[in-house]
Amino acid sequence: MEICGRFPSINPRFHQMATFQPLTAWCNLSRNPKSPEHLGRKMFILGMGFVGRFFAADLKARGWSVGGSCTSVAKKNELEELGYESYVFDANDPRPEILEIVKNHTHLVVSIPPVAGLGDLMLRDKKFAEDILKDGILQWLVYLSTTSVYGDCGGAWVDEEYPIRTMSERIRDRLSAEEEWLSLGRNLGIAAHVFRLGGIYGPGRSAVDTILKQKPLSFGQKTRIYKSHTSRIHVADVCQALNASILRPSPGKIYNIVDDDPAPRMEVFEYAQDLIEEKFSERGEQYVSTGRDESFVKGIGSRGEKRVSNSRMKTELEMKLVHPTFRSGLQSIIDNADLSALRKPTVS
Ligand SMILES: NC(=O)c1ccc[n+]([C@@H]2O[C@H](COP(=O)([O-])OP(=O)(O)OC[C@H]3O[C@@H](n4cnc5c(N)ncnc54)[C@H](OP(=O)(O)O)[C@@H]3O)[C@@H](O)[C@H]2O)c1
Repeated sequence: MEICGRFPSINPRFHQMATFQPLTAWCNLSRNPKSPEHLGRKMFILGMGFVGRFFAADLKARGWSVGGSCTSVAKKNELEELGYESYVFDANDPRPEILEIVKNHTHLVVSIPPVAGLGDLMLRDKKFAEDILKDGILQWLVYLSTTSVYGDCGGAWVDEEYPIRTMSERIRDRLSAEEEWLSLGRNLGIAAHVFRLGGIYGPGRSAVDTILKQKPLSFGQKTRIYKSHTSRIHVADVCQALNASILRPSPGKIYNIVDDDPAPRMEVFEYAQDLIEEKFSERGEQYVSTGRDESFVKGIGSRGEKRVSNSRMKTELEMKLVHPTFRSGLQSIIDNADLSALRKPTVS
């Protein structure tokens, strides 16, 4: 099967890459892709990052076959050790083989953010992508987007029908990627969805982790600390929403995936600090921060004020949140945190 050279602007380096499986590995599978024995539960995750890895583990534990992509050979090896078929893929330089692999999966989660100023390069030639995928077994996909597409709404409650007025380059890239994936789904007759996620947190990535690691806050974190409302979602609930959508596909639907409490980030950090102090005091130790930089930047971060509604998610996906607020989410993180593995706190 000749597939090289058909992808627009294909990079000749592709021929030297050893990161994809040999063609024969998937040619056999694609011989009769729509036969019932091929229509199992096969998930492909484009971008095995934070959400991707959690969801992959959840699916694997329930007997799914899971494959996915990452951007380096080191991560590919790591993912293979975890039992996932993995591929190195760079969206800045997309290669056609990834579509040939995707088409042999029944389900797809797209977790790669758009390339700044260029959008989603994978769908740069949509006709080409459709021509490959139409012969495959793909039935369902979710494109992971963000609630920041709503821009600044002056603190109003926003649902999925809220008219988007702010149009930065970032928002434009996201919206066009959302539309491209939905339109691919329409043209192929598969159930394509968009999930607009609030700030994703979970074990290893949360206010608790930020404080315990005592890393300096990024400029973005320093500006966002004063926001009155920040939507967020625990990664366990992102996985729950993905599973719910698999059970209740609704082609073309956009869902906000956020928890019930768009609380200010400052409140979240204060709560996390209290939980940490309590945890250390239970161990007979005192937790003292060793000089976290708290030079927060006032004013700038209030630009994206909105409260994002999760009502469609709850009614149509029939979701009951595992962590309706950051309180239960952070509590579960601290309950399961291995504090002994962390840097020793300063004891006064
Ligand atoms: N983090 C948040 O709070 C948040 C909030 C709302 C929406 N989102 C969006 O939701 C999605 C999932 O979020 P996440 O936190 O799980 O993201 P993440 O941990 O940053 O994972 C992103 C994945 O995409 C891959 N990737 C990034 N740039 C790529 C490129 N140019 N070419 C190919 N692969 C690329 C990364 O590869 P490697 O594994 O090799 O790094 C990684 O696997 C992302 O689109 C993110 O922008 C995130």
